[in-house]
Amino acid sequence: MITPISGFSKLSKEEKIDWLSQTYLAHNTNARKILTQYWNPDSGLQQLHEEFTENTLSNYYLPFGLAPNFLINDRLYAVPMAIEESSVIAAASKAAKFWSDRGGFKAEVLGTEKIGQVHFMYSGDGKKLEHFFNSIKPTLLEAVAPLTKNMEKRGGGVMNMELRDKTKLLDNYYQLHCTFETKDSMGANFINSCLERFAETFREAAKSHEAFNATEKEIEIVMSILSNYVPGCIVRAEVSCPVTALADQGMSGEDFAAKFVRALKIAEAEPYRAVTHNKGIMNGIDAVVLATGNDFRAVEAGIHAYASKDGKYSSLTHAEVHDGQFRFWMEIPLALGTVGGLTALHPLSKIALEILQKPSAEELMKIVAVAGLAQNFAAVKSLITTGIQQGHMKMHLMNILNQFQATAQEKEILISHFKNHNVSHSAVEQQLEKLRS
Ligand code: MEV
Repeated sequence: MITPISGFSKLSKEEKIDWLSQTYLAHNTNARKILTQYWNPDSGLQQLHEEFTENTLSNYYLPFGLAPNFLINDRLYAVPMAIEESSVIAAASKAAKFWSDRGGFKAEVLGTEKIGQVHFMYSGDGKKLEHFFNSIKPTLLEAVAPLTKNMEKRGGGVMNMELRDKTKLLDNYYQLHCTFETKDSMGANFINSCLERFAETFREAAKSHEAFNATEKEIEIVMSILSNYVPGCIVRAEVSCPVTALADQGMSGEDFAAKFVRALKIAEAEPYRAVTHNKGIMNGIDAVVLATGNDFRAVEAGIHAYASKDGKYSSLTHAEVHDGQFRFWMEIPLALGTVGGLTALHPLSKIALEILQKPSAEELMKIVAVAGLAQNFAAVKSLITTGIQQGHMKMHLMNILNQFQATAQEKEILISHFKNHNVSHSAVEQQLEKLRS
């Protein structure tokens, strides 16, 4: 019987693997080898990765690839992407090339405001609380001055602070709703540190506020945390061209554009489709966010929430044809950093940012949004023409061959065979069996 372990975190990496091998993987004689073969031979580099998080056993690789030919605001970028899904980087590259021949992508940052909140409970007279907040606000800002000093030098800091009465949602619930500018850093630590300082100062000051009665003096801080919903930190990406420039694979430009717009209307109207449609956008976004050492969970949470901002989950991208011109665009919230956090620590993130010519956070917002738009264009283009499986299975062929442990020679023969045949798991298995017998 398996019993709980205490002090696991104190064990060395080798001891952790010993414990794991004996406790959960006793049947797998290969487990230790698999875990250790992903250790980096450079012990300093290995240690760096281990220290990103806790209880590290090994490293988990993802392919780090490049999608070249992204023309964004007349500047040509090669975009690094970290992603395991076959065909994402190929599709991004294809869409980038397609649009670089048609004027490229235009992108614009519409706002960079980040949000953080102190959530607290106050039981008493709301008017008194409002007076107290107005009187204490300068003290709160003063209390964070040591934390905001450097950020202010870079043009950022605390931009605004409001008291919000949320008692209609929940008895006694109020917020300090704060907005921040964090310039080139994602700003999570900065925002959370400021919020915790606000909360503590606010709670302490309430204790000696003369107008409060004994109950009112006891403000309960429930939590202080940034919000990953950032509808004021928005970037817009767009492409456009004459519909005639969209003729493709025997389809006229007019027909292609009309069908493309219909596909987008379906994604706007139907949440089941919208989720998959937006997932395709996130294929491009997450891959660049991850490659550049940014927090893809934060980005995912914020973008999907934004997709529901009008009360119903809907498509993030939109398209129209107007006066013979096709236009395809997207506005999304993106809280990204190009300094601090993993961006400065992970050697591959540093390289990724160098590949992108050391962008500011605003530049990175534009690049990431364009990668999402390009990915969506490629996916919808395949869906309304050849279907998604043709290209996808071609790219997937290598994964299937690797699953069957095909040799280099077998791979060469089968890649050539499947140039003219439909790829499926069973078709690859059959061809391999034929080859091997
Ligand atoms: C697959 O990862 C993404 C797609 O399903 C996106 C879409 O359907 O638009 C192809």
